[in-house]
Formats: sequence, C-alpha cells, structure tokens
Amino acid sequence: MAIDGASQVLGVFGDPVAHSLSPFMHARFAEHTGANTAYVPFHVRPEGLETALFALPALGIRGVNVTVPHKEGVHRLLEEHSDAARQIGAVNTVVNDEGRLWGDNTDADGFLADLDACFPQQPWRSRGAVVLGAGGAARAVAYALHQAGVAPLVVANRSRDKAQGLVSELAPGSGHPCGLDPEGLGEAVADAGLLVNTTSVGLEGEEIPGLPLDRLPAEAAVYDLIYKPARTPLLAAAEARGLAVANGLGMLVRQGAASYARWTGFHPPVEPVLERLQADFGIGRPR
Ligand code: ATR
Repeated sequence: MAIDGASQVLGVFGDPVAHSLSPFMHARFAEHTGANTAYVPFHVRPEGLETALFALPALGIRGVNVTVPHKEGVHRLLEEHSDAARQIGAVNTVVNDEGRLWGDNTDADGFLADLDACFPQQPWRSRGAVVLGAGGAARAVAYALHQAGVAPLVVANRSRDKAQGLVSELAPGSGHPCGLDPEGLGEAVADAGLLVNTTSVGLEGEEIPGLPLDRLPAEAAVYDLIYKPARTPLLAAAEARGLAVANGLGMLVRQGAASYARWTGFHPPVEPVLERLQADFGIGRPR
C-alpha cells in the first residue's frame, strides 16, 4: 500500500541503521495484513537519542523499534516498561499510546516463538539449556528461557563474573554460571537439550573456542542468533553431527511481527516474510 495522509508512522532508531532489514520486513507485514503503515529508518546518534525519543508524541509516530546501540539507553530514558523490558534492561520496541510512551522488549517472545517453530520436539523441556554469552542478547534469551520454565539454565561466558551477574538477576534458582572452558562447559552441554549462541563469535566465520560440541546429546538442538552468515561454524559442526539447528533469522522476523502487533493489532504471517528475506537478501536458514 502506498503512503498517504492516513498512514500510521512506525520506524527504527539505530546507529548505523542503513543495514537494517526492518524497513523491508515491516513493509511486507503491511502488505500481508492490509494495514496502512509506513515504517521508516531513523539514523539517531547517541547525542540525539533523548530528543528523538521524546519527539514521538509530537510527531504522532505510533512506535519505533530500537536497535544497536540504543536498547539500553532507551530503557534508561523511559519511565514505563513491560515486565520483559524491565527485567532484560533493554527496550527494542517503544509504544506511543496517545502521548504516553512505554518500552517493551519483543526479543524474548520472538526467540521463544522461533524455538517452538524450529524444534517441535522441544528437547529443552526434559533437559536444560546452555546459553553462550552474557551480553544484551543473552539477557533476552535467558529471560525467555527462565520464563518458559527451562531448567537448569547454564550461562557460559568468557568473563565468568558477567555470567554470574546475569544468572543471579534473571534466572535465580535455576541458573548456573560457567566459563567458556572445555571442562565446565563439557559437563553442562552433556545434560543440555538446547545450546544457544548469543556471542558475536561466528560473525566472521570463527569457531567458538573450547566448546565440546561432541558432548551434546543426540536429541539436542543448536540455535545461533547470528543469521549472517546463515551457517556459522557452530551450526555447520552441529549439523555435521546430525543435530537439529537454526539461525536467528526467524527470531528477527518474529520479534518484528510481535512489535507490529503491539502497534497495530494486526498479527502478520511470519513464514512468507522469512521466505522473502531469504530470497531477496540471500540470507538462508539451516534447518
Ligand atoms: P550483544 O548485545 O549482541 O549481546 P554485547 O552485550 O556486547 O552484545 O555482548 C557480547 C557477548 O559476546 C559477551 O558475552 C562477550 O563476552 P565477554 O562478556 O566476556 O566480553 C561475547 N564475546 C564477544 N567476543 C568474544 C570472543 N572473542 N570470545 C568469547 N566471547 C566473546
């Protein structure tokens, strides 16, 4: 649908933002739902974040997504949050309810929805999960898994202190911190039904050092949040072992669809948009 005077304006704040797939994705959501929305990339630099955020009501913008490096900054600036955004400590979706701004985080919902779609056997229900990394992305994943009742939940990070902090905040009781070393990790992955990489290791085709993949049970699933490259060395090695694997493209589309639903009330279909992203951007999806 072409933009007209009645279009509801949405967008994304990022720095940089030119690489973002979200404008393409949300244009497809509008096509599929018939909603009259226009989704705009906003290149917002850190020094302009506060002004841009609090201009949303004056401009009548219904909402924006928030991407790197602003998720934590927007969380700090807003007074109202959903439970997910508050606990994760990051906002990926701002909603403007008639001048009242609040922060949400649909990354956790997007991640859980994609897990269920990719791995119907849900091996993490009978066993626990191991999350690699303890940064912003790991917080959304750990929050999601804890909410879903997945236990035990091992968070393995290069700096173990950060894993400790994440676990005590987001997965008290069920969480255990661990270093990225073969000894600790070997024991953790031997019991895991799910391994999730949230670190940036693999973006440049690197392997994750010290990961004893051979110790994962045969029914375990491996999820890498990285979707470019589509098949990181981690996923390639897991596939070679015959494990079920998925990358983060589905999470990307599902968090976007969840944001779109918050703003418009329309629930866009995910599969055709995933297929378009694969076709138009050459970003594949190992299954
Ligand atoms: P994001 O928001 O994408 O999660 P982040 O908050 O910067 O990004 O977190 C990056 C994560 O990748 C961290 O867990 C980081 O580990 P440290 O806390 O020890 O820094 C992890 N990471 C990045 N480069 C890594 C590397 N070369 N080896 C192991 N872990 C790495």
